[in-house]
Amino acid sequence: MRKRILTGIKPTGYAHIGNYFGAIKPAIELSKNPDYDCYYFIADYHALTTLNNKEEMKEYFYNIACTWLACGLDPKKVVFYRQSDIKEDFELNWILCNVTPKGLMNRAHAYKAIVERNEEQGIDRDDGVNMGLYNYPILMAADILLFDTDLVPVGLDQKQHIEIARDIAHNFNGKYGKCLKEPCDYIDKNNHTLVGLDGRKMSKSYNNTIRLFTDEATLKKSIFRVVTDSRLPGEPKDADCTVNKLFKLFATKEEADKFEQDLLNGLGWGDAKKQLFEVANRFISPMREKFDYYMEHKEEVDKILKEGALKAEKVAKEVLARVRKAIGTDR
Ligand code: TRP
Repeated sequence: MRKRILTGIKPTGYAHIGNYFGAIKPAIELSKNPDYDCYYFIADYHALTTLNNKEEMKEYFYNIACTWLACGLDPKKVVFYRQSDIKEDFELNWILCNVTPKGLMNRAHAYKAIVERNEEQGIDRDDGVNMGLYNYPILMAADILLFDTDLVPVGLDQKQHIEIARDIAHNFNGKYGKCLKEPCDYIDKNNHTLVGLDGRKMSKSYNNTIRLFTDEATLKKSIFRVVTDSRLPGEPKDADCTVNKLFKLFATKEEADKFEQDLLNGLGWGDAKKQLFEVANRFISPMREKFDYYMEHKEEVDKILKEGALKAEKVAKEVLARVRKAIGTDR
């Protein structure tokens, strides 16, 4: 049996190397498996929950779209589309709202974190929470359930969202009879949470990312911002340091072994970062060329996404028709 794989990325910032190694690269690997039927999309209406500026929306949207293509997504193998093009998603979203207990949303991590922060500060618990943010997991469930998805490749931080999607499907099926497929998460256990510039998880919200596609000078500048300790050249460095962890991502095994040995033998941080920049830049350059090409040919990107949306829509319409029949709004 072929399995349907679906995942989305929210365009809320520039793609960074954490997105690449944590999500994009593994998703592209999966799409090479002929047993998998892959649906990858840009979750622009999820971005809307935190982004409310049209220039930023466009900027990040094309950045993420061109990143997928530059990193090797093959639109002949993957149905690649923009969430907001699939109107059925928003219809299913509403239907699912009605089988989702409000308490389930209260327990969603992202919402809970904001409430806890507000309570600590002694302000209204829902301060800064719009309904889009509150209902975020329901739209995400619609994204997934609309395509009879089997597996959702995501990072650990999204695990709860997939559980919520399962719960919602389960509630729907309980009420109306078996209709929606209950999806599973697909979390690669040895998938490294990438360290960021400051050694914490690389994340837009920590502002410690290394942007994937920038000019060489900017890439170099970010790499030189990697936080190190104050050990001097000649003093042995820790193999567990951020510079070494990042180096491994871009280098061959031999290069990585040698680099680690050099660090243990006292390689200075300046030289180490220079070498890190060189391997990173070598790795990124061929993709950057494609990225720059797509950024200059946005009409091609639009066309690819339109074609993807047509394919996605076909499946979406079938599933939605089944749902409408189950709830009795068909004719
Ligand atoms: N919430 C996901 C994230 O922030 C993005 C997303 C939206 C998604 N819809 C999805 C991921 C459906 C997988 C499946 O990363």
